[in-house]
Amino acid sequence: MSVRRLADEAIQPATFAFTKENQAWAEKKMAEYPPGRQQSAVIPVLFRAQEQQGWISRAVIENVANLLGMPYIRVLEVATFYTQFQLKPVGTVAHVQVCGTTPCMLRGAEDIRHVCERKISHEPFEVTPDGKFSWEEVECLGACVNAPLVMIGSDTYEDLTPESFEAILDKFAAGKGDEVKPGPQVARQFGAAEGGATTLLEKPTAKRTYKPFPPPPEAPAAPAGAVPAPAAATPTAAGGKNKTTEETAPALKSPSPEKVSTATAEGERKAAAASAKADGAPNKAMREEATGAESPAGKIDAGKTDTKAKRVAAPAAVSSPTRETGGPLFTPPPGAKDDLKLISGVGPVLEGKLNAAGITTWAQVAALKKADIDRLEAHLAFPGRVARDEWIKQAKALAKGGVEEYRRVFGKDPR
Ligand code: FES
Repeated sequence: MSVRRLADEAIQPATFAFTKENQAWAEKKMAEYPPGRQQSAVIPVLFRAQEQQGWISRAVIENVANLLGMPYIRVLEVATFYTQFQLKPVGTVAHVQVCGTTPCMLRGAEDIRHVCERKISHEPFEVTPDGKFSWEEVECLGACVNAPLVMIGSDTYEDLTPESFEAILDKFAAGKGDEVKPGPQVARQFGAAEGGATTLLEKPTAKRTYKPFPPPPEAPAAPAGAVPAPAAATPTAAGGKNKTTEETAPALKSPSPEKVSTATAEGERKAAAASAKADGAPNKAMREEATGAESPAGKIDAGKTDTKAKRVAAPAAVSSPTRETGGPLFTPPPGAKDDLKLISGVGPVLEGKLNAAGITTWAQVAALKKADIDRLEAHLAFPGRVARDEWIKQAKALAKGGVEEYRRVFGKDPR
């Protein structure tokens, strides 16, 4: 497989924009992920862009990065890693990806590649004169059991012979690609043995019945700050007696009710910790959450807890990005917010983060000083973003005269 890089500048389109329908689709897809995790939509959104344009250009990467609030390099990494993304124009009817990894090679992938060389082009990625077909060799497509195979679009055609593959190409050339059934091209279902089952042939002799597990015992409600009742702490004390566990893991036993009730305050703390540990709660935050206890400050001390503890304490921090003093990073001015998304490099997600940090207007962005930028970029985890995308220059133009001034300065519409 060759090195995957973006296509030559000469063929890179200057801009890319989703159609209205695809933009709505992408935003809906992003909303399927939890708040703050919209970047997880990068692969489906890139695919949508590829379906629209036919391949992934630099402008697509920038557009998707802006939409998801990601650094460009992260989207570039995804697009260049997966061979499912085409980095230059390919055949409009079929771009054939021939698996050339060992199992497929051993089962005849070379003959399949020769068909591509003969019927499409001698060289990979060379598009036929009518622009309809191209091919390339890729690494394992994940269906080795049905080797050899090719992928066209998002379908695989498996268990190929040169003849069956030629017939598939002919169908596509005749505009009847839809008639070809993806999957195995021999008599087998999915990855099952060809010709039918070869194992587990005996007929079941008796009907099996399954008993559902009994519901777990209900834990008694403990008063705030109290040591949890041992009965709720471990299955053994709760009556869900597991002999094997008791016999083989005595160290996991929780303290008896008598011991807990007579313990000193210090002893209670230790008992609670031991109980929580036995429950599998691996850290302080989870123990505190399990027992209902709080730290002296009334909440988990983020400075002293581990990563899991921070996750437990996260909601307040996520909903309101704060300094140690508790306020937003910047003071938002009164009045209406500007559309920060007009600044190239700022998408809906990033705009939300900026707003939450107290930046709501172009003038604020235009007035950012170096120390502010450092603080902001550290907060957004986007080092160098402000300078690289010329936020200040863009914001100055927008603050001075809106879209008109932006056009005058940059010679194009914002975004
Ligand atoms: S080796 Fe070809 S699909 Fe895995």
